[in-house]
Amino acid sequence: MIFVMVQIAGTIVAPEEPRNWDPKNPRIWIVFSNLEGARIQGGGVIDGSGSKWWAASCKINKTNPCRGAPTAMTIDSSSKVRVKGLTIQSAQQMHFTISRSVAIRISGVRVDSPPDSPNTDGIHISESTDISIQNCRIGTGDDCISIVNASSNIKMKNIDCGPGHGISIGSLGKDNSVGIVTGIVLDTATLTGTTNGLRIKTWQGGSGYVRSVRFENVKMDDVENPIIIDQFYCDSPTVCKNKTEAVKISQVIYRNISGTSRTSKAMKFACSDTVPCSNIVLNNINLERENGTAETYCNCAMGFDYGFVRPAADCLRNDDSSRCSGGSENNNRKHGQVNTEL
Ligand SMILES: *[C@@H]1O[C@H](CO)[C@@H](O)[C@H](O)[C@H]1NC(C)=O
Ligand SMILES: *[C@@H]1O[C@H](CO)[C@@H](O)[C@H](O)[C@H]1NC(C)=O
Ligand SMILES: *[C@@H]1O[C@H](CO)[C@@H](O)[C@H](O)[C@H]1NC(C)=O
Ligand SMILES: *[C@@H]1O[C@H](CO)[C@@H](O)[C@H](O)[C@H]1NC(C)=O
Ligand SMILES: *[C@@H]1O[C@H](CO)[C@@H](O)[C@H](O)[C@H]1NC(C)=O
Repeated sequence: MIFVMVQIAGTIVAPEEPRNWDPKNPRIWIVFSNLEGARIQGGGVIDGSGSKWWAASCKINKTNPCRGAPTAMTIDSSSKVRVKGLTIQSAQQMHFTISRSVAIRISGVRVDSPPDSPNTDGIHISESTDISIQNCRIGTGDDCISIVNASSNIKMKNIDCGPGHGISIGSLGKDNSVGIVTGIVLDTATLTGTTNGLRIKTWQGGSGYVRSVRFENVKMDDVENPIIIDQFYCDSPTVCKNKTEAVKISQVIYRNISGTSRTSKAMKFACSDTVPCSNIVLNNINLERENGTAETYCNCAMGFDYGFVRPAADCLRNDDSSRCSGGSENNNRKHGQVNTEL
């Protein structure tokens, strides 16, 4: 094993003109690939100078073509890498992607971009296992952390998110694809002024599953959708039709979540009629709406709550299983039977 130490103490700044970018590498900037046992640290700054890329995005101006922009920093096909104490800011698109990797530890990373920067996910995990993300502060224009296909055993602890779109599993199942994500834990987080808090999003028509997820000890402040499962996710210019296939969502525990919701639906479990959500568990939830009443919305979501839970979530126990096919199967109501230990 060759041990690599990368020390970034100053600021690395990307060229700001998209037209000066190497067309052979349209989607990457700084890449660490095929490392085994490395440290990347030093307290420095990686600055993607993204503002011209953002202005050229089709999300900002619909007359622009929809083209992907570079990810500021990527760790790919690597193992046993520690990333500590770096700031990644103004990425062209995503800030930091971890793909096809195992045993990566991220701590003390800061992400900083404006709330209107398009598709600028903070930390994006794909096809990776045994990843830990600790003590990170992320403010950006898209998901603070996003976890997508073929990822498992991801632990997040002490995460401060906002502005941004929250902490997301997905999207999964786009274009009828298979999406599999298991073993996700978020412990201790604050979400401030974000559009979503804790989100699982899947497209109609996909397959695969999201299973064994635990979100706990989370404080929300003025979050639009604090707790949301959306199996009707559709980020396309045309309407997405409902289909019979969907990514199955089960064993999702929310525990000790409190704070304020900007909308009335503080908890939203919008699950597929044909592939309902099962074993959704709520414990010690206190979400309030600043002005008005908060409520819980369910469509084909099954599970139970215990302890103090506000707004009430009776709909999890009562959802109409005659409309929601296959719903009653696999729906253990004794919480002892739900296994999300990692
Ligand atoms: C969108 O882009 C077009 C073509 O570049 C430009 O003419 C138009 O002014 C832009 N619109 C906005 C709102 O910036
Ligand atoms: C998701 O990962 C699985 C393997 O776990 C793979 O079979 C599938 O093709 C992947 N889906 C996509 C959209 O890449
Ligand atoms: C609940 O979460 C908050 C953080 O939002 C934390 O300060 C508190 O200690 C947690 N309570 C328990 C009983 O774990
Ligand atoms: C899809 O199904 C959901 C749940 O039954 C329903 O609320 C929604 O309107 C449907 N969407 C479309 C595009 O038919
Ligand atoms: C709540 O109502 C107060 C008084 O009407 C108002 O000043 C405040 O802006 C409202 N807050 C929100 C989040 O709507």
